[in-house]
Amino acid sequence: KREVILAESAGFCFGVQKAVETVYREAEESKDTVYSYGAIIHNEEVVRDLTEKGVVVFEDEDAAAKVRALPEEAGTIILRSHGVGPEVYRLCEEKKLRIVDTACPFVNKIHRIVQTENRKGRRVLIVGDPKHPEVEGIRAWGRADTAVIRDEEEFLALQIPKDVPLSVVAQTTFRLPKFKMLVDKIRELGYDIACFNTICNATQERQAEAKKIASEVDAMIVIGGKNSSNTRKLVEICSAVCPHTFYVRTASELDPELLAPFQRIGITAGASTPKHIIEEVQAIVRAEF
Ligand code: F3S
Repeated sequence: KREVILAESAGFCFGVQKAVETVYREAEESKDTVYSYGAIIHNEEVVRDLTEKGVVVFEDEDAAAKVRALPEEAGTIILRSHGVGPEVYRLCEEKKLRIVDTACPFVNKIHRIVQTENRKGRRVLIVGDPKHPEVEGIRAWGRADTAVIRDEEEFLALQIPKDVPLSVVAQTTFRLPKFKMLVDKIRELGYDIACFNTICNATQERQAEAKKIASEVDAMIVIGGKNSSNTRKLVEICSAVCPHTFYVRTASELDPELLAPFQRIGITAGASTPKHIIEEVQAIVRAEF
């Protein structure tokens, strides 16, 4: 009989859960138009569902332009869970929109660290993906010289003089070992560097559990949106220890045929994967045998 191991940490983390509840409540209760600044969470299903409920979703890339084009007092604007920069709050205030902020408190904490470190006269470096909305939001809270790096090469390219004190924060979904290694390298180069491990525990726990399960099963299924960086990282981690790792967005993408040869199957899901999708996938995997 097939054995299915579902990761306890699969799916919504605390921050996303809170953001999703808020946006659904607003969609149901708000009398005026509800806009969303960027995708509230990186999950296509959730975004589509919200759109059907009347929420107007402004894509991350042109959200600012879309808000600028709105008339004054156009309704409610929901700020995404990944957080936004101060200029977005200003813009929404100028437009007299009712602001509902769903930024995760852990991301807000990074915004505060960036400001405090700058006030101390330190230059802030963000370790993460420069194109990710969370990182763009964090950067917007920093001075103009706040830079985003992913590795030693990108750090060296900045050519920062050794006497500049540095403070480093991480994108909440960055991988801890990689972050630590990079900070150590910078320190070894002789920089005065203050390190803030802002990687979210939810991510670390989900990653550690995924790795453990993936190393014990014949096949591993990772569920999550294709835009979700934390889901992609889970895929990376699982594939490294389990060659039969499948990456699906929804249950309908899962081909039960492909799973036929496997006895022990593990399942995990990214932070923005709704529970019902995880359950649907689980039902398929269990139903096969
Ligand atoms: Fe927040 Fe961590 Fe989730 S930063 S949005 S609780 S992954």
